[in-house]
Amino acid sequence: MPASLAPGIEIGVVRRNERVAPDVRLLTFAAPGIARSYRPGTFVHLRTGDSSTPLRRPFSIARVAGDEVILLFRVIGAGTGWLGACEPGDRIDAAGPLGTPFTLVPASRRVFLVAGGLGLAPLLGLADELRATGGVENVDALFGVRTEDEIPGPGLIDPPGGPIWRIASDDGSAGFTGTVVDLLEERLGEMAANGGEDSLSGLTVYASGPVPMLEAAAGVAAARGVDLQVSMEAHMACGVGACRACGIVAWKDRARINGRVCREGPVFDASEILWEEVGR
Ligand SMILES: Cc1cc2nc3c(=O)[nH]c(=O)nc-3n(C[C@H](O)[C@H](O)[C@H](O)COP(=O)(O)OP(=O)(O)OC[C@H]3O[C@@H](n4cnc5c(N)ncnc54)[C@H](O)[C@@H]3O)c2cc1C
Ligand code: FES
Repeated sequence: MPASLAPGIEIGVVRRNERVAPDVRLLTFAAPGIARSYRPGTFVHLRTGDSSTPLRRPFSIARVAGDEVILLFRVIGAGTGWLGACEPGDRIDAAGPLGTPFTLVPASRRVFLVAGGLGLAPLLGLADELRATGGVENVDALFGVRTEDEIPGPGLIDPPGGPIWRIASDDGSAGFTGTVVDLLEERLGEMAANGGEDSLSGLTVYASGPVPMLEAAAGVAAARGVDLQVSMEAHMACGVGACRACGIVAWKDRARINGRVCREGPVFDASEILWEEVGR
């Protein structure tokens, strides 16, 4: 994985804050320094509120456009409530970009993007990058929701020239019926049946979503022998590797190491994670 990026703190200025699904918002703020240093998979650590809420909140950068940073988030508590109420012109204290980004593979290689719920966020920017580097015809983009209502409004997931996201819904209300990992398994099975197991060699899967989904994706990737990079989440405090609040046990060179989601992650090679110990 590439080295972690040096963080900076910037006062961003909110440009837009739109509702795109129930309790889900797309927040756009101008932060030229963060936008310039962004790489897919990195995150920002935001002060959400005044000094009475000292702990910052982490959010994947969903995409950048010029000097703008775009976040996709669900309102679930005080910090996200504060962010959800921001209006154009409001200021946001943002640290970032932080963390270790996705490792990009050459545009000629076949790639799967596998998003579960708001795990979609970091994969949107990765899809933009793949479009910009000309590898889009080699991309299978899969997006899982519980039900159709959770699909964000038009324009967000299928920008012109980008990969077309195939939907999987748990309840069958949209697209494939089942989880997004079921859909991944089916697609890999079809590829192996049509082109032989060799057709899967060199394939990379990028996944982001809840831990059980990522653990299931890790099982499928291991069974098929394909590379999988996962974007992990954890409760964070400092966001820069100092406090170890975001610990994760991983394997490196056959030894257990105590990793940090904010520093060595949030992107990890799935085969390096001790899944049975994540979040327990
Ligand atoms: C690297 C990273 C990237 C993230 N990217 C996004 C994103 O793109 N979009 C998005 O909506 N959210 C994202 N999150 C989660 C986001 O940080 C939390 O939703 C946010 O901090 C909640 O703040 P709050 O003050 O509103 O909620 P709080 O009042 O702090 O918590 C409300 C509830 O949510 C739970 N919770 C809070 N943070 C987390 C967490 N990190 N993991 C699991 N449960 C949590 C709490 O235990 C509590 O039950 C990301 C987290 C990490 C670590
Ligand atoms: S949040 Fe402090 S080390 Fe990761």
